[in-house]
Amino acid sequence: MSSSLLSSFEVLEDTKPHDVSLPAFVVSTTRGFLPRMDPIVTLPSEFEVVEALLRRMPVKTLSGVPGLLATGELGDTVLRELPDLSEQVEKYRENLPMMTALYRDYSFLASAFLLEPCHMRFVKGEPYGLGRSCLPAQLSRPIVRCAELAGFKPFMEYAGSYALFNYRLENPDAGLEYSNLRLIRAFEHGLDPTSSEAGFVLVHIDMVRNSGPLVHGTMSCFRDLTNVDKLPGPQQRRAFNEGLRTIVNAMQKVNNVMETMWMKSKPRSYTSFRTFIFGITSQSMFPDGVVYEGVNDDKPMSFRGESGANDTMIPLMDNFLQIPMPDTPLTEILKDFREYRPSKHRQFLAEVKKHSEAFHLKDYALALDPKGNGRIILEADEEERELVKESRILWLQALDQVRDFRWRHWCFAREYILKQTSHPTATGGSPIVTWLPNQLQAVMEEMISISKRVDGNSGGMDLGPVHRDMMELVERQHHTLRKEVDKYCQERGVGTK
Ligand code: HEM
Repeated sequence: MSSSLLSSFEVLEDTKPHDVSLPAFVVSTTRGFLPRMDPIVTLPSEFEVVEALLRRMPVKTLSGVPGLLATGELGDTVLRELPDLSEQVEKYRENLPMMTALYRDYSFLASAFLLEPCHMRFVKGEPYGLGRSCLPAQLSRPIVRCAELAGFKPFMEYAGSYALFNYRLENPDAGLEYSNLRLIRAFEHGLDPTSSEAGFVLVHIDMVRNSGPLVHGTMSCFRDLTNVDKLPGPQQRRAFNEGLRTIVNAMQKVNNVMETMWMKSKPRSYTSFRTFIFGITSQSMFPDGVVYEGVNDDKPMSFRGESGANDTMIPLMDNFLQIPMPDTPLTEILKDFREYRPSKHRQFLAEVKKHSEAFHLKDYALALDPKGNGRIILEADEEERELVKESRILWLQALDQVRDFRWRHWCFAREYILKQTSHPTATGGSPIVTWLPNQLQAVMEEMISISKRVDGNSGGMDLGPVHRDMMELVERQHHTLRKEVDKYCQERGVGTK
């Protein structure tokens, strides 16, 4: 068991950017959950027609002139000009990063094709109505094949398509600084780096750019716990606390970048570009899903839409920290979201969950007896007591970073969505009023429960004034959120579960 996470799942340091036989997405301590190389920007010459369509597609093209989606001509142009290039796709089947670039580009065309009618109605101030219900063979066959080879679902996803594989460096020598990032593909105004669409996507990338230390901290906690034979008690806990501190610092950085969303992408602009990132499951625009011509015996298929819910940082924290989620249909949606991500990210999350539970990570961090119904282990030694106190503080701080992320996220949902539109479902197909609060309340309840269990506000193991302030805020937000959700549920006539 001892080194099984470390040997059963390979976390890379060197991401081998030139090796085309590896998938574009792995997990590394250097690039975290970003693709292991900067995304491929331009497709090979066989796909010039795809390139040309994507250049002409956005509502505002790179040169500033209105594109095919401005006039509602994308669908007809695809049917008229795009041949089925499935055979050309096969030529690149051994090159997995290229497959991901093809998947990205076909998924942009597919979503634009399916949702164009909804966009045209939306800009006239009408309800979305129905999207196109059939994806023609020249889109369906290549996207299914690229997705299969690259390891995605055959519909636009967050990592392999809209967000993490969709940036280029304006100056190749200037690295991943925000000001040096540009989108490769966009639906609306996103080719302009100052637009809200660009800001929305680039802030995600800017956050994930800081995920390397998160992976590093996680691995180092596991390593220190498995080193029981090598490190004596206090030394082991000291090293474990160091790993936790790395995690807390990384999450703080991620959350600080998240705060920049307010300035980079305006709440009032979000609903206009998001039309194109809706999914084809649990959406009124696609009541019966979509027929992919020539695929699945022409029986309709359905997939969730692009969503940050497919990002890997928060699920990593959920699994590492063993945050209990309520047994509700909303939590089933959370589990389903976890299927929509690169296979290496999926495997990593599964391993972290398995090992966190197998090593009783939470019990160790909080010094609870795993066999004693949560009984607290009281360290006799002063030095060890101080170290346990530090573990508890850090564990709660890590939870607090998850709370901070999810609270800010709820504020985004309120300002960018609830105040702008009455459409009841988010792009990923979750109910807009109740889904995010399901997880946010779960984190806050976990914090309240742990703080009580370890008696953090009094006695010999008092966790101090900073802890008290943190918990006061949690209690307040817990209460405020319940009231807010009840209000939205009443206004919109929806149930709370
Ligand atoms: C304007 C900004 C944003 C808005 C309006 C927004 C909206 C949403 C919505 C509505 C959901 C619900 C799932 C669904 O799509 O059906 C969601 C989930 C999620 N989004 Fe975002 N999002 C924003 C920014 C971000 C950013 C920058 C990240 C960073 C990675 C992110 C990560 C997530 C995560 C992790 C979830 C799942 C939440 C959970 O597990 O509780 N989002 N988002």
